[in-house]
Amino acid sequence: MTRPKTLLETLNGRKLDRTPIWLMRQAGRYLPEYRALRAKAKNFLDFCYTPDLAVEATLQPIRRYDLDAAILFSDILVVPHGLGQKVWFEEGVGPLLDPIVATDDLKRFEPQRMIEALAPVYETLRRLRKALPEDRTLIGFAGAPWTLASYMIEGASSRDFAKAKLWAYGRPESFQKLTDLLVDAVATHLEAQVAAGAEVLQIFDSWAGALDTEGMRRWSLAPIGKIVGRLKTSVPNVPIIVFPRGVATGYRDFAEAGFGHAISIDQHVDPAWARDALQSKCVVQGNLDPRWLVAGGDGMRQAIHRILDTLGQGPHVFNLGHGCVPETPPEHVVELIETVRAHGQKGR
Ligand code: CP3
Repeated sequence: MTRPKTLLETLNGRKLDRTPIWLMRQAGRYLPEYRALRAKAKNFLDFCYTPDLAVEATLQPIRRYDLDAAILFSDILVVPHGLGQKVWFEEGVGPLLDPIVATDDLKRFEPQRMIEALAPVYETLRRLRKALPEDRTLIGFAGAPWTLASYMIEGASSRDFAKAKLWAYGRPESFQKLTDLLVDAVATHLEAQVAAGAEVLQIFDSWAGALDTEGMRRWSLAPIGKIVGRLKTSVPNVPIIVFPRGVATGYRDFAEAGFGHAISIDQHVDPAWARDALQSKCVVQGNLDPRWLVAGGDGMRQAIHRILDTLGQGPHVFNLGHGCVPETPPEHVVELIETVRAHGQKGR
């Protein structure tokens, strides 16, 4: 008997006797086969833009593990790159961008050019949809405007987001122009992913927690709300998972805004708080500390049980509080999935 697409069904509100599980960054450097594949590409962006390689990278964790979903292998920074900003990845450093300093710099960015530039990403999704087993869900994704803007302004990963916050707090009208451009670009990119076969979308606002509460509402929640509002009309049947990482009690604002089907929570959120404040309003996804996956063993198993004892009555999607780190021993992922599956069997 074929099993249902557990992730898709859970996000659509169906109650199943199995908690869906997938992991952020389930593809990546912790897998030896990923490192071998990665060595075939000239650089990281080329890797993302070569469908043969990106399809294979997406499928590697699916071949190894009993995961319920595959997430497109790509990166959030393909959006600024597709718009026309210079983006590159330096080995051991991370992403680097030729930073923007004023709204004048936005004139050269064109959403239509982005869709053409990102054609290989959509081709990757079309191929994945054919290659993926029927019972697995295909997830597409994008970065949220604030997180993208922070990389576009800082020109690199940042510790304090000093430049991006100075622009947002000091020149809000100008920052709004950048945000509006990104709302359109991100929504367009997500719509194109659905047209190419994505069945669920996740919006990563990885640096939402860097803003104060008012800033979070204006520059994280509001633009994500605009994107989700547009997608509700353009691709009404596609569930959306929103991940405003690090917003603490701000997760409640997201749940109450009611625009996402699911909210992904980081490991700093107490599962009992998430159950009481969020779970009656939306599906909760999360939230094992990725470092438990490095440590493994009984400690990891107990941490998994603590989450499932609290959130497991659902609606819940098991995931990490952030992505898999390169130090993760691949066999610990097997243990994690077995522990989640076994927990689901208890008392049934
Ligand atoms: O398996 C998956 O989750 C799908 C692939 C995926 C990647 N990046 C591949 C990647 C996804 C969903 C992302 C999202 C992403 N990219 C985010 C949001 C999620 C998060 O982690 O907060 C962010 C902030 C980025 C930007 C980015 N890309 C950074 C900061 C880095 C360097 C840091 C690092 O981990 O190396 C990347 C590079 C990157 N993106 C790698 C992978 C597998 C490693 C690059 C390599 O192989 O050399």
